Order: sequence, then C-alpha cells, then structure tokens
Amino acid sequence: MTRKKIRAVLVGCGGISGAWLNSEPVKKDVELVGFVDLEKKNAMQRAKQFGVDGAIVETDLARALKQLEPDAVFDCTTPNAHCNVSLIAFRHSCHVLNEKPMAENVTQCKRMIAAAKKAKRIGTVIQNRRYYPNIRALRRFLETGKLGRITTVQSDFYIGAHFGGFRDRMKHVLLLDMAIHTFDAARLISGADAESVYCTEWNPSGSWYDHDASAVAIFQMSDGIVYTYQGSWCSEGCNTSWESSWRIVCENGTVLWDGADGFRAEIVSGSTGLVRDTRELSIPRRVARKLVGGHGGVIRSFIEGVRNGTRPETHYEDNIKSLAMVQAAVQSADRGRSVKVPATS
Ligand SMILES: NC(=O)c1ccc[n+]([C@@H]2O[C@H](COP(=O)([O-])OP(=O)(O)OC[C@H]3O[C@@H](n4cnc5c(N)ncnc54)[C@H](O)[C@@H]3O)[C@@H](O)[C@H]2O)c1
Repeated sequence: MTRKKIRAVLVGCGGISGAWLNSEPVKKDVELVGFVDLEKKNAMQRAKQFGVDGAIVETDLARALKQLEPDAVFDCTTPNAHCNVSLIAFRHSCHVLNEKPMAENVTQCKRMIAAAKKAKRIGTVIQNRRYYPNIRALRRFLETGKLGRITTVQSDFYIGAHFGGFRDRMKHVLLLDMAIHTFDAARLISGADAESVYCTEWNPSGSWYDHDASAVAIFQMSDGIVYTYQGSWCSEGCNTSWESSWRIVCENGTVLWDGADGFRAEIVSGSTGLVRDTRELSIPRRVARKLVGGHGGVIRSFIEGVRNGTRPETHYEDNIKSLAMVQAAVQSADRGRSVKVPATS
C-alpha cells in the first residue's frame, strides 16, 4: 500500500539541509513543497534540486506556511533562529523537526515544548549521532549489566575544524554547536541525566575562532556517575573521531570506544593480586535497523511519529535535558564555579 507523503517546508537552506534532503526517508516519504531562507538564492537552489513541481520559494516562514498549510516544518536554520521557527510552525499547526541544538537555552526550549503541546504537534530534534550503529551496540552491551553498574564516563573530543561561516563568530561555539552531540551521547551511553557541572572554557593561542573553542567539564550525573568531558575544535593533529574517544568504567570492568569501529572491553577474572587479572569481552555489533541511519534515522522516527502519533526518541522533552547540560556548562564557565543543571520540567 502506498502511503500518503508528508508535505514539508524546509526553512534554512544552507549546508546541512543537503544531508536531510538526500536521506532515504525524505526521498521516499516527503514532498518538499516550500523552501524558506533569509538568503533567497539559497532557497532557490534547494527548490531547484529537491522541490516538487510548483514548490514555492520564500524569505518569510509565516507567509509560506499560511499559503501552503504543510504537515511539517524542517528547520535547518542557525541555532539562534530555532525557537522562533518552531513557535511560528506550531502556530500554523505543523509538526517540527529542528536541527540541533534544540535552541539557545532552556527557557527557549520550554517555550517550544509548551507551544508543541498547545498545538498537539510533535517537536523533535536531529540528534543524529545517536543513530549510529556503534553507539547503539555500546549502549546495548552496557545494558546487559555484564560489567556491573557504570561508575565513570569519560570522553575526549579533539578536532581542528576550519568551518568558516557562523561558527567562527559564535560564542561558546564548542559547547553549543558540538558538545551538545557529545553530552547527548553521554546521556545515551550512561542511561543517566546530569545534575551539576564544573566547566572551564578558553580560546587557545593561535585559535581561528572569535570565542572559546576549547572546554573541560566535570558532570555529576544521576546514579552517582561522574562524566568528564574534554574537547576542542581548535587543536591541530591527532584528531579524535567526531563521536569522541570514550572510556566507560563499571564496577567489574571497563569499555574503551574510539568513536568509530574500535572497541575494547575487559572484565575482572581474578580475585587476588594488586592488579586483578582480566579477560577480554567482545561487543556484539548487530543493531535494529530503526536505531541507525544518522540524519535518516531521526527523520524516519519523526515521520513515524507524524503518521502514528508515536514519540520519536529525540522529542523535545528528552532533548531539553542534553541542552540543559550545555547551558549549565556555559554558566559554570562564565561564573567560574560549579552550577546545578537547570530543571527541565
Ligand atoms: N547534526 C549535524 O551533524 C549538524 C552538522 C552541521 C550543522 N548542523 C546544524 O544545522 C544548523 C545549520 O547549520 P549549517 O551548517 O547548515 O549553517 P549554514 O549557515 O550553512 O545554513 C543556515 C541557513 O539558514 C538560513 N537562516 C538563518 N536564520 C534564518 C531564519 N530566521 N529564517 C530563514 N533562514 C534562516 C541562513 O541564511 C542559511 O542559509 C545549525 O543549527 C547547526 O548546528 C548540524
């Protein structure tokens, strides 16, 4: 049976929108009826590449939604616009899928949640790095409890990234634009939420960013877990993967993950000696199809949500908890002391 396609308007027709529009679920299940961008030429280019016949090009989202009455808005604007885009979209009874980060702060996120509830529509965030097979394999392995309870999580992110564009001028660029992925991954891997954080941010000498592009943060998570983050977008050489390099310490053993295909897991096997004997464990890699696909994976679960009323994993009320980690880290760095992670409900 062929199912009716979702009619969507894309707002923000820059770099990342290509990853959305080339994804399999968009090609299969979505009709792109409108393209909106403050820069009309960007909207025109995407309309030419991906639009249905008669797709409209606009610089004003509300005008486009009034004319088209679509089912959904795809938001690929810059972070400072996400909240406003969502509020406009919900006022026009659309479901919304935003690029990460959900918004600039928790207050904006709460306004988006309230607007989604009022409109009885789904609000979801592209947290695409959750939808990679290896992080799912890692989480599933930890959930088996073979190594006992998780006590400590550590991630290192070091990539010398020369983007140009809005990031070069953005405040808290690493924390807001990238660490949101890593913090969200820490929540997925640990199954815990953050309670407080101490963070230091700085802009290393030789930086090509206007503001702080390096940070170190120590989070106290629920279940007594401590999560430490170290990262930089301004470090040349010996790059980590974009997923970061991880160490997860449990009561009876440890897992290392390089963020790509490299796993190493050891469980204690001895019961005597200064350092106990260990043996290696392998991590099964098979993962359910619905949990993978990067951007396509999130978009697929969003489309299912629009059609069946199910809740995508990265819905606003979950994703705000990752954004709250970012906000608290920024506040801690600004104040030079530990701060509580703000309440999200
Ligand atoms: N999930 C990922 O892996 C990933 C990767 C890259 C970027 N992103 C996110 O995607 C978003 C966009 O990033 P990008 O790299 O495509 O940026 P970009 O600068 O290439 O594109 C952004 C576009 O949005 C338009 N825009 C900005 N404000 C607008 C508004 N109010 N109304 C209409 N159009 C508006 C700009 O004119 C521009 O064309 C950001 O939130 C970024 O963090 C996510």
